[in-house]
Amino acid sequence: MGWQTLFSRQFLKKPGEHLLVLGITGGGKTQDLIWLLEGILKEAPNETVLWNDSGKSNEILLVAQLAPINIIMPEGMDINIKCENADIKKSWFTDPKEVWFNLEKGRVNVLCVEPFIRSPKNFTPVITAIFSDLIDLAHDYKIPVPLSIFYDEFHLVAPAKGHAFDKKHSSFGSEIQYNIERLRSLKVRFIASTHHWHKIRKGVRSSFNWFMINRGGSFSSEEQPKLSRFNKRYEKMSVEDAIIAFPNKTFTDIMKIPYYGEGSDFGYVRYLGKLTPGEQTSKPASIEANQLSQGIMT
Ligand SMILES: Nc1ncnc2c1ncn2[C@@H]1O[C@H](COP(=O)(O)OP(=O)(O)O)[C@@H](O)[C@H]1O
Ligand SMILES: [Mg+2]
Repeated sequence: MGWQTLFSRQFLKKPGEHLLVLGITGGGKTQDLIWLLEGILKEAPNETVLWNDSGKSNEILLVAQLAPINIIMPEGMDINIKCENADIKKSWFTDPKEVWFNLEKGRVNVLCVEPFIRSPKNFTPVITAIFSDLIDLAHDYKIPVPLSIFYDEFHLVAPAKGHAFDKKHSSFGSEIQYNIERLRSLKVRFIASTHHWHKIRKGVRSSFNWFMINRGGSFSSEEQPKLSRFNKRYEKMSVEDAIIAFPNKTFTDIMKIPYYGEGSDFGYVRYLGKLTPGEQTSKPASIEANQLSQGIMT
């Protein structure tokens, strides 16, 4: 049986399997996430999908090339999109819990918080509040599962020791760690990326058992002895190359990932509004990020 069939059966079609894309900046991680998204949409149409929008390079327009999208954003914020042939719906939330009630099957749900807050120090509490609700709701079977959550640059929400901005930021990572270990059995998975193994909190990185390796991906020899043996080989890969490591640590050959283009090739995205933690905003409908993180409504 070829690796494609195995990958489809054991990963794409199997709920709850977490995967981490590892490679240097510019190594092709975001493109890999799009490729994985395409795979899930084709092979696991039953899966509900959430894509976290980092706000970089109009990436949501790449997502919108693959499926209709449902943009979920904080009340008071808006987004202006010009893109031909994109099927776009917008939803708003005031309480972090509402993000999960807004999920739609049949559309890729795009969580759009980071572009309105911009600084990781400030958006992490909001993202963490959203994910804290996720585990509660998943336990109570209130979330449409199976669910795949795509999260680029995952170290921003689950930073390793010494990489957090402060204690608070670090404690958010422990919450994610607590969640990720339980979510697998609840059929909720993360398909995430990072540019450095050690940037992600240890208990979080150890929860991933699938890896997609890009140029410059590098594993710790203590934690991943088998995968780290080829660190030198990963350095020499070109930007379109990727290797998938299965949970039993067998590898695919180097494969060529298609290039999906840049979001800006398909149109433009403007984020209207800004959430500023700790500052009163003049817009009546908008909410402060710190209130959001505590689940307090205005
Ligand atoms: N599969 C690919 N084929 C051809 N070029 C690619 C491919 N993946 C990435 N690239 C090139 O490399 C650049 C960086 O890719 P990107 O996915 O944004 O990297 P990262 O997210 O790791 O920083 C892209 O803008 C594109 O020019
Ligand atoms: Mg990227």
